[in-house]
Amino acid sequence: MAFLIPLVLTALAAGCQCYKIGVGIADITGPPAEVPFMGYAHPKQKGSGIHMRQFARSFIIDNGGKRMVFVSCDMGMMGTFLRMEVLKRLQSEFGGVYDVNNVMISGTHTHSTPGGFLKDFIFDLNSFGFVRDTFESYASGIVRSIVRAHKSMTEGQIFTTSGEVVDANINRSPTSYLRNPPQERAKYKYDTDKTFTQLKFIRKDGRPLGVITWYAVHATSMNNTNHLVSSDNVGYASVLFEKKINSKYTSLVGKGPFVAAFASTNLGDVSPNTAGPRCVPSGAPCDEAMSTCKDKNDACIAFGPGSDMFESTKIIATKIFEKAWQAWKNADHAEVTGDLSIVHQYVNMPGQKVPWTNPATGETIMVKGCKPAMGYSFAAGTTDGPGAFSFKQGTITTNPLWNSITDLLAAPTQEMIECQAPKPILLATGEMTFPFEWQPSIVSTQLVRIGQMAIACVPGEFTTMSGRRMRNVVAKALDLSGPENVIVAGLCNTYSDYITTPEEYAAQRYEAASTIFGPHTLTIYLQQYKNLAAYITNGSAPAPGPTPPDSFSDVISLLPGVVFDSAGWNREFGQCVAQPPQSVKAGTQITVSFVSGHPRNNIRHEGSYLSIERLGDGNQWEIVATDADWETRFIWRRLSSIMGTSEVDIVWDVPADVKPGTYRVRYFGSHKYIYGAIKNYVGVSETFSVS
Ligand SMILES: *[C@@H]1O[C@H](CO)[C@@H](O)[C@H](O)[C@H]1NC(C)=O
Ligand SMILES: *[C@@H]1O[C@H](CO)[C@@H](O)[C@H](O)[C@H]1NC(C)=O
Repeated sequence: MAFLIPLVLTALAAGCQCYKIGVGIADITGPPAEVPFMGYAHPKQKGSGIHMRQFARSFIIDNGGKRMVFVSCDMGMMGTFLRMEVLKRLQSEFGGVYDVNNVMISGTHTHSTPGGFLKDFIFDLNSFGFVRDTFESYASGIVRSIVRAHKSMTEGQIFTTSGEVVDANINRSPTSYLRNPPQERAKYKYDTDKTFTQLKFIRKDGRPLGVITWYAVHATSMNNTNHLVSSDNVGYASVLFEKKINSKYTSLVGKGPFVAAFASTNLGDVSPNTAGPRCVPSGAPCDEAMSTCKDKNDACIAFGPGSDMFESTKIIATKIFEKAWQAWKNADHAEVTGDLSIVHQYVNMPGQKVPWTNPATGETIMVKGCKPAMGYSFAAGTTDGPGAFSFKQGTITTNPLWNSITDLLAAPTQEMIECQAPKPILLATGEMTFPFEWQPSIVSTQLVRIGQMAIACVPGEFTTMSGRRMRNVVAKALDLSGPENVIVAGLCNTYSDYITTPEEYAAQRYEAASTIFGPHTLTIYLQQYKNLAAYITNGSAPAPGPTPPDSFSDVISLLPGVVFDSAGWNREFGQCVAQPPQSVKAGTQITVSFVSGHPRNNIRHEGSYLSIERLGDGNQWEIVATDADWETRFIWRRLSSIMGTSEVDIVWDVPADVKPGTYRVRYFGSHKYIYGAIKNYVGVSETFSVS
């Protein structure tokens, strides 16, 4: 009897080159108030509310023998330690189904989301150490998205297509790009990748399940003056795509069955600020090679296409969404068919030695990886966020964590200076062990082949040309039809800053100063992914590699939590202190204010701090928008730290095509008693008419 079953299944699946596919989305929003954001490393850029919620989007592919998960998260990057926590939780939920080998997690690189979730000391400096509630929000949300994908698994097909968005990115270090050999540059029309790759997931009966679009752009349309949690340009593009398909099920963000990720790729030197840099306030041009200004009072800053950062975010998001949507509808796509193989290996970068052929001389020599170090231009920041890390050795700053350790900074050894040359070393992070590792030495490397496609999960920000070289090497090693069949998944599994080409490294701009393992960081990666490809080809598993340090107990945290909340004299929590106007016109903006507790008391995952509600035909209130919508802003304001009082503003941009009717605004908060208990409350505005 038993042998009959496979025969029956084969017959059913005839005509469908099916994989089992699962998709899932979950809220991962971090603590939205008073936690510094990860990205610009600007200690004053702390959260004070939400513009758009953060989500993790998971995709599971199984070919009957092997399985993989790809997760794209609205956050700065993925880190080794956070991924290990996710794997631990998946292990207890599913046993050995998901492990270090087959789970690939990539960050979108938004610079407007809470930090403090990476373990390496330098990345948590800005948030005054580790922030446990950020870490917990991300870990629990990512796991929830994978569990949802797991539970939704169904037979379906994968298709691949591509498209082009020419006016949504520019190179922010064009003079470094020009250091690459002219014959290599001649193969490419632009100094950034304008082409995106898309994978579409369709259920066997034709119903859309999900889509991943990889387009190279920094999620820095929102600049370092923004204090509202935001998934930035790519996050909003995801919301637009999901709304388009989910509208027949729900209008609520993050709630529908269809999941659309815009995932990061070789965005290292790629800016969304397409109007380019200029000196502000004078308006003079910046020095191109140095990104400096003649006038000392000026800063060289790049601007987006819009008149402010919100408009720029919307313009970039809309451009990439529209092209991605066209590609989605385009029937000119190829079905992805064939075997699935995925391999993973941890690599200790400072220990690596590989051959390198100098393109200028044709001579081959052995080169090596260096202990991590950051160069001087790292402190200067980029034109997307200038002067970000502008404290140097010995400088006293407003950052208490930094001040407490400046005496303990290690000087670079002679060996490090030679290895990292020509980088002038600002921080010899690889020599610094107090209080624990400053930057990773052991990184995760991972490669998957799905039929005619491959995804290389890389532990940082590859520049445009680094990504192109990686795609060429992997395509050749796997014998794929061309580099366009290789996807570089950026900021994936481990964060180890930037990866420039050796030629770009010589110019020592920001990206090169932040290429931490020295001039041949890329050379080592090209060899490593070639090795991984060989394992895929010969079907054996690579050794796991060294285990990254996992010491949670010594993590420092100086960021204070919430002490207590008070409503203030003669006021109560949730009381509406600024009511909406009685009647409101489409296309205008309203603001409603409430007495509040601290938003960190309860992050309301899968819920919302606010709802815009319309009185429906059955006299029932229906939710029209939440804090995850573009049209709303949830803004928290401290009134007095001593008294523990605060207020929130709820801002709603009434859409031009709003459904007329009777509306109200509700606010959901939680306040903390001095002895620690937390109590929920709800505020509600007066009703108002919208026409
Ligand atoms: C950020 O954008 C705002 C407009 O939204 C602009 O006024 C400000 O100058 C920008 N700041 C930086 C540092 O880019
Ligand atoms: C598979 O390829 C790797 C990398 O080249 C090599 O080290 C390994 O010995 C190969 N294994 C087999 C079984 O051929």
